[in-house]
Amino acid sequence: MDVLMKPILGIESSCDETSVAVMQLEEGIPRLLAHQIASQLEHHKPFGGVVPEVATRQHMQQLDPMVESVLVQAGVSLSDLGLIAATRGPGLASSLMIGYTYAQGLGAGCAVPVAGINHMEGHLFSPFLSAEREPVYPHLALIVSGGHTMLVHVKAAWSYEIIGKTRDDAAGEAFDKVAKLLGMEYPGGPEVEKRACEGDAERFDFPRSMLHSGDYAFSFSGLKTAVRYTLEKLPGAVTDQDRADMCAGFQQAVIDVLCGKSKKALEEFDLKLLTVSGGVSCNQMLVTALQKMCDEIGVDFLPSNPKFSTDNAAMITYAAALRQQDGVLLSVQEDIDPNLSL
Ligand code: KG4
Ligand code: ZN
Repeated sequence: MDVLMKPILGIESSCDETSVAVMQLEEGIPRLLAHQIASQLEHHKPFGGVVPEVATRQHMQQLDPMVESVLVQAGVSLSDLGLIAATRGPGLASSLMIGYTYAQGLGAGCAVPVAGINHMEGHLFSPFLSAEREPVYPHLALIVSGGHTMLVHVKAAWSYEIIGKTRDDAAGEAFDKVAKLLGMEYPGGPEVEKRACEGDAERFDFPRSMLHSGDYAFSFSGLKTAVRYTLEKLPGAVTDQDRADMCAGFQQAVIDVLCGKSKKALEEFDLKLLTVSGGVSCNQMLVTALQKMCDEIGVDFLPSNPKFSTDNAAMITYAAALRQQDGVLLSVQEDIDPNLSL
């Protein structure tokens, strides 16, 4: 069988999700044969954030049985595989190392080539994976996750220019920190979105940091501090309504900045498609606001499906499949790189 037709096994272990997928490209269209994500949320929750050592131990326990189970689910044996792909970075060094060295060992043991994949490239292509359509170029990609916030001008296949990123906290990180300030559980994003539905976004006047900075840089730490000061200045005990209003005001401030900067970039670079991906793109208020903005300026909008927005192996496997198809696979001779950039 042509190697391009053979199934690919993909492994993601860059942070606190162990995930494994088996995928095949059929005439350029991704066919996901099996996909599993083991969330470690319950193990990290008591600490209010991701604990690297806990993550490492979980990856070590989960990975091997998951690979076995996913292969059975896909009806594929190791000898059927055309490629094994694993996340090379960016991420937590100790987490990356588990998935990456496992992939190297498995590949060596069953004579299957192994490739390292950039986690951000996985996020970047996830809207196309969600829509089961081939990537379109050029386009503008907004990637908003717990570790990153960036606007990428995707000029052509494998040609990226990061036109803006955050100077401090990532958007998801700001959601998590604000949730913590308000006494809510980790991860904060989904909880803040839920509470915001019952809140008045106008009650507190939170800053739209860097919205008119004239460039594409983001900053969310000032917004988080504004929420803290507002909370401290509230007279009396904090009520559920105060919390809901703060969640709504904070969320709206983040959305206004993400929409404003995306719009400016679409217009400046004359791009006709905006994609959004990463954990924060699970936020339906954000997706609705981006859709409205794109409709107003006559630009297509493609959000990632929430099931491929947070960290997952399907997006890593898809990026590997696209790279293999174009003959631009990265050699796994390279070591992991916790600071790998696009
Ligand atoms: O992409 P992801 O799974 O991990 C990284 O690569 O960082 O993103 C996780 C982030 C967390 O900060 C989480 O709070 C945020 O995505 N998130 C959300 C929502 N769901 C997850 N933020 C806002 N609204 C949501 N509904
Ligand atoms: Zn991620």
